[in-house]
Amino acid sequence: MQSDITSFDEYKKVHQQSITDKEAYWEQKAETFDWHRKWDKVHSGSFEDGNVKWFEGGKLNITENCLDRHLDEHGDKVAFHFEANDPDEGPRNLTYSELHEEVCKFANVLESKGVGKGDRVAIYMAMTPEIAIATLACARIGAVHSIVFAGFSAQSLADRIQDCDAEMLITNDGLERGTKLVPLKEISDKALQSCPMVNDVIVCQRVGNDIDWEEGRDEWWHDLMANASADHEAEVMEAEDPLFILYTSGSTGKPKGQVHTCGGYMTYVSSTLKNVFQVGQDDVYWCTADAGWITGHSYIIYGPLLNGLTGIIFESTPMHPNPGRLWQVCEKYEVTHFYTSPTAIRALMKEDISYVRDCDLSSLEVLGTVGEPINEEAWHWYDEEIGNGNCPIVDTWWQTETGGMMISPMAGITPTKPGYATLPLPGIEPALMDEDGNEIEGNDVQGNLVIKQPWPGMTRGVWGNHERYMNTYFNKYPGYYFTGDGCRRDEDGYYRITGRVDDVLNVSGHRLGTAEIENAIDEHNKVVEAAIVGYPHDVKGEGVFAFMTCNSEIADPEAFKKEIDDLVAKIISPIAKPDKIQIVQGLPKTRSGKIMRRILRKIAAGETDDLGDTSTLVDPSVVDDIIDGQAY
Ligand code: PRX
Repeated sequence: MQSDITSFDEYKKVHQQSITDKEAYWEQKAETFDWHRKWDKVHSGSFEDGNVKWFEGGKLNITENCLDRHLDEHGDKVAFHFEANDPDEGPRNLTYSELHEEVCKFANVLESKGVGKGDRVAIYMAMTPEIAIATLACARIGAVHSIVFAGFSAQSLADRIQDCDAEMLITNDGLERGTKLVPLKEISDKALQSCPMVNDVIVCQRVGNDIDWEEGRDEWWHDLMANASADHEAEVMEAEDPLFILYTSGSTGKPKGQVHTCGGYMTYVSSTLKNVFQVGQDDVYWCTADAGWITGHSYIIYGPLLNGLTGIIFESTPMHPNPGRLWQVCEKYEVTHFYTSPTAIRALMKEDISYVRDCDLSSLEVLGTVGEPINEEAWHWYDEEIGNGNCPIVDTWWQTETGGMMISPMAGITPTKPGYATLPLPGIEPALMDEDGNEIEGNDVQGNLVIKQPWPGMTRGVWGNHERYMNTYFNKYPGYYFTGDGCRRDEDGYYRITGRVDDVLNVSGHRLGTAEIENAIDEHNKVVEAAIVGYPHDVKGEGVFAFMTCNSEIADPEAFKKEIDDLVAKIISPIAKPDKIQIVQGLPKTRSGKIMRRILRKIAAGETDDLGDTSTLVDPSVVDDIIDGQAY
């Protein structure tokens, strides 16, 4: 159960061996699980051909490894504490036995509705234990789950359902986060108007808000569960069968459905959690993410259960009912391992320090961050105020596509440096490339981050679009996986992620494509063309700045900004709303019609002294107009 690496020297040795002989390394990890049939081949395929496979011929069910395997020894151990939005809601803890029973029952429900192996099921739910139960039940019957973050709009939900051709949707009547009610069933109804493929909707009651009901399509979770049997034999899956599809934004077009598979993903998320967090059997591990993101998939649901840990499902926000909530929850459950986002840390460090100091945080042993670069000030605050200078900080770099953590300290083993994800985990071989496709050797260098060898947790495809998979990840640098991130390797060989090098924004750790937001804004009847760039934001890391040309005079720019906000919230999600908009006479374009975002980025960041070469613009005078204009 404990990590097999316990010192920095050992890390270096194991890492070296693991990249020299990756098959031996990963085979040994895979052997720690229950398989129905052992694999014939540890690994095959290549980045060049985009046909990577792990543990081919192996047969398993991931939920037997998450649940059944622990029942004999740890059936009474808590798998999840549930911390509801309202801190005064009564306690609810699910033991491994109870979770197993619920998952088996819901697996029988799904089968009774005709869902089977390979069918896609969309999940659009609140953060209650039921989201984990629904997810695991899909995995148990071999259905491919596609969780859609419950902050996404009806249209985003519909896009995802249509893309993966889901036949069932599981949702709630509504959810409450902080003081906000989100009417999930109503949003789902709207989405389903354009999703004729969905025949069944299962609604789990959470809030008790009024909802519409479509007879013959909608059924209550509790009605279906009332008569369901708790006996369920897990479907035996091939290692390379898809486990789930999760959509993520890229630089162009609609979000891409990343496909993760059963055997490789299981092996990868389990071993990375163990190595990075150095968790043990008595630990209480809390990842504050939402199950709708990859962090929730890998390190709230699958990773902790595979390791037999006690985790927490948190329904609320760091600010509700006050900015001490995260620390109060740490104290309440005596959390030992805590994993959150730099945005949450930056927001909370602005609040009165008494919210921290009023809580007993002495149980904490390891602190983690994920999703975006962490600035030094936030790192030190986290270290000193939350960790009391005693808890190693693991700044974990990874992506939806990577399935699990890739570059990260191992807690207490890798010497850390603020702002650095430090060194690659075992089995991972990063490199930096220049724009001409050459590997940049040595230290104290900067370039585009790539990975040199396949690993078991990597995305196996973009659902339904192999060409997009190849173009996005493998064709830029043949033989390498291209991450889309820029990175520095310092004089000690430590990696520091500098941010995306493509047109992807990272707002509060949420990944957003500029093209998606531009397309949403272009829908406004007064907008001719929009150009989105990111700019430094002291809490969100990156803010959304929207420049746009309009076809008529805008008399009230503030009211207009509200219309743009509402439009973006409706088409994508409130998380994508612009922080600032500016109406301009013209956008800086090259002769070939390409918007020069480099210039807009500088203007948005207030760095107007150093705009670089503007001579290739069709009309360089637009730049001065933009600098002189006003943002709202
Ligand atoms: O730019 C990197 C940033 O988040 C991107 C991946 O986003 P997503 O697929 O939504 O997954 C987020 C959770 C794993 C990366 O390309 N990113 C992630 N972790 C870090 C980071 N940037 C800097 N430091 C990190 N630790």
